[in-house]
Amino acid sequence: MNSTINLFAPTTVGTLALKNRIVMAPMTRARNFDGIPNDNNALYYQQRSGAGLIITEGTAISNTAMGVLHIPGLYTAKQVEGWKKVTSAVHQKGAKIFTQLWHVGRVSHVSNQPNGQAPVGASDIQAENSFAWGYDENGKETFVKCSKPRALTTEEVKEVVQDFAKAAKNAIEAGFDGVELHGANGYLIEQFLNPMINNRTDEYGGTIQNRSRFLLEAIDACIAEIGASKVAIRLTPYGGMHELPHYDEIDSTYQYLAEELYKRGIAFIHLMDQQSRGSYALPDGFLSRFRTWYKGVIILAGGMNRQKSQELIDTNLIDLAGFGEDFIANPDLVERLKNNWPMTPPNRALHYGLMLEGYIDWKTYEEEQLVNG
Ligand SMILES: Cc1cc2nc3c(=O)[nH]c(=O)nc-3n(C[C@H](O)[C@H](O)[C@H](O)COP(=O)(O)O)c2cc1C
Repeated sequence: MNSTINLFAPTTVGTLALKNRIVMAPMTRARNFDGIPNDNNALYYQQRSGAGLIITEGTAISNTAMGVLHIPGLYTAKQVEGWKKVTSAVHQKGAKIFTQLWHVGRVSHVSNQPNGQAPVGASDIQAENSFAWGYDENGKETFVKCSKPRALTTEEVKEVVQDFAKAAKNAIEAGFDGVELHGANGYLIEQFLNPMINNRTDEYGGTIQNRSRFLLEAIDACIAEIGASKVAIRLTPYGGMHELPHYDEIDSTYQYLAEELYKRGIAFIHLMDQQSRGSYALPDGFLSRFRTWYKGVIILAGGMNRQKSQELIDTNLIDLAGFGEDFIANPDLVERLKNNWPMTPPNRALHYGLMLEGYIDWKTYEEEQLVNG
């Protein structure tokens, strides 16, 4: 093991100057009735700005990008204004904040789409056993089975690439430090990567290079708008969420992507291990292989704790540690990790929905002591 790095000390990784190595992972909370970030969202993120870097919940890049009701967007002027509240609240506390740019592709339902149209995907293959959060046939808000998608035409793929770039430009206008493209968890970008879902015969299907083209074009379009040091991506190699089957060329696909992304000098790659979300773990040895392919900044999220993140950073497998669910009920997560204070368990029934309960009412450890004492 190398010498111990202080997780809680200020550091610069790549071009990011951070107050510590803890990252708040992106988490959809569905607290926006009109898609426009508001004061409650600003308070929620400010409460969690003990993190060196916050990555916001998945944020829609267009009106066809959604598969969950009440998520925020970043494609209208009002949404840009709303996000300014969030970015300034977080910056006041000395944290950095990226937004996660999201297109769900086929993981959506007709009730999430404009005029009730079919969701768009890399292909027309349906995620038959996956769920979106939309309206059922009685107009009730609930989990609904994903609808059959329509394959994007070649021209439309290029339009979605531009939607990513426009959202990236809006993000900078809204005060974000950068953007993370959502290339993980079975959503649109990963639907293109996976040859069991992507059956296209145009330049976006077939070889590894072709299946990676949409992702790299979206990255390049964002770089052209806001510069490489402000662009990042989240990836889930070997992930299975939303019915993405494993395929033969997973390692070679991610090696190609890692090398291409490194050439571009992006801010970071954010890997997620899906085991803590009920899907596959990253296979043994993958992180060491990935480190040889990608020499830039690596974040890993999924099942982290203080000891595990310390070990992974000290052995130089990752640079920053991402924490997800723990941040919901522990707004002062960094202080709890630093002081080895106990964690408040999450209440999963309150993860999504418009209610304020379970959103901005979680207490810090010290506040809990006052209440309990
Ligand atoms: C309520 C909730 C919402 C989430 N929403 C997103 C999301 O919008 N985008 C994303 O990439 N991951 C999302 N995730 C996954 C987290 O970013 C994180 O990777 C995952 O929870 C594993 O980390 P953990 O074990 O520390 O929770 C979500 C997780 C939770 C618990």
